[in-house]
Amino acid sequence: MSVLEKNNASEIINLENQYGAHNYHPLPVVLSRGEGVYVWDTEGKVYYDFLSAYSAVNQGHCHPKIINAMIEQAKTLTLTSRAFYNDQLGPYEKYLTNYFGFDKVLPMNTGAEAVETALKLCRKWAYEVKNIAASDAQIIVCDGNFHGRTTTIISFSNDENARKNFGPFTNGFINIPYDDIEALKTVLENNPNIAGFLVEPIQGEAGVYTPADDYMMKAKELCNQHNVLFIADEIQTGIARTGSLLAVCGNCTCENHCEKQASYATPDILILGKALSGGAYPVSAVLANDAIMNVIKPGQHGSTFGGNPVAAAVAMAALEVVEEENLAQNARYLGKIFREKLNEYIKTSNVATLVRGRGLLNAIVINDTEESDTAWNICLALRDNGLLAKPTHGNIIRFAPPLVMNEEQLLDCVSIIIKTLKQFES
Ligand SMILES: Cc1ncc(COP(=O)(O)O)c(C=O)c1O
Repeated sequence: MSVLEKNNASEIINLENQYGAHNYHPLPVVLSRGEGVYVWDTEGKVYYDFLSAYSAVNQGHCHPKIINAMIEQAKTLTLTSRAFYNDQLGPYEKYLTNYFGFDKVLPMNTGAEAVETALKLCRKWAYEVKNIAASDAQIIVCDGNFHGRTTTIISFSNDENARKNFGPFTNGFINIPYDDIEALKTVLENNPNIAGFLVEPIQGEAGVYTPADDYMMKAKELCNQHNVLFIADEIQTGIARTGSLLAVCGNCTCENHCEKQASYATPDILILGKALSGGAYPVSAVLANDAIMNVIKPGQHGSTFGGNPVAAAVAMAALEVVEEENLAQNARYLGKIFREKLNEYIKTSNVATLVRGRGLLNAIVINDTEESDTAWNICLALRDNGLLAKPTHGNIIRFAPPLVMNEEQLLDCVSIIIKTLKQFES
């Protein structure tokens, strides 16, 4: 009998508490299996997954095509490092760059690594192409951002909890308010040393803040005018989550790969992660055209695991699933129903004040303070009612199910959410 089989849920939780660093505060539920939109706990109770590992499992848990690709590749060749070529990387790079319309990709593993890569690439371009004087390059970022956990990335976070006692921090970043095109314009007009503008098309961690429909387009235009790289962090929003292949195309209703999307707000640097592997494996990527990417030369950046054959095979399968199963269209269709139904309910609710989002990246705002535990308690009740979600900040609950959900399942989830909110109405 394995160690796991011998332990019940509370014992497993205790093991994490005792032997794991306390860097997370998980909802008390211990999962042992997943399939599609469902996950099961160690006692066999089934739940709808309404978080999708923070939008990594867009293609659903254990998608057979992705898992088969992973198994086949894992049986054949797992890691060569980039000291040698492997037969999966080139075909994957061709597929990925065609898929998103860029000349080149730099493959990494986690989201934070890809953001770091994009920042380094942007700085190098600024010195070697834009001719900014050494060490003077600045990158504009937005208040409320979440781009990961490395020392450089938390240097420009506003989340004091994420920063406290981790200094000294990295210089070279200018914070501006999110969704404020005038603020961006002012900084760009008054500083010749701006190398890039790093932005999330929707701020997921901050609470699914959805900017004006034309924010991305206007930001991109301003960046073009000032010869500044427009860097889109689509780690959470990308790969069909918000109802289009990329969220930078706003509320555009066209299908994947369309020309309108390409002309809307194509980033100079695109950062992907999470659903690039359907949650099966850590795969991230930074995409850019040659004029930018070619500043990186051998030995200047890399990763032992970045671009490994398993990652390449898994990511290709994961992107094929997105297209074959029309996940962007499904997310757009179901997201609209989700917001309509919840908006209807919220009109009469004392507990929830707002639902916002795009596609299947949504959040409800709870009528209580950031410090309250109401959202947490609602998530516990949702769990008891068969649906797993997590507060992002004290009074906001994010709802991001796998995109393979069907309408009947979505309506079932809406009734679970409404039933649960009713338990909290005064
Ligand atoms: C927008 C965004 N960027 C970067 C990251 C960091 O990704 P990872 O946790 O894989 O390092 C996340 C993770 O939630 C994210 O949502």
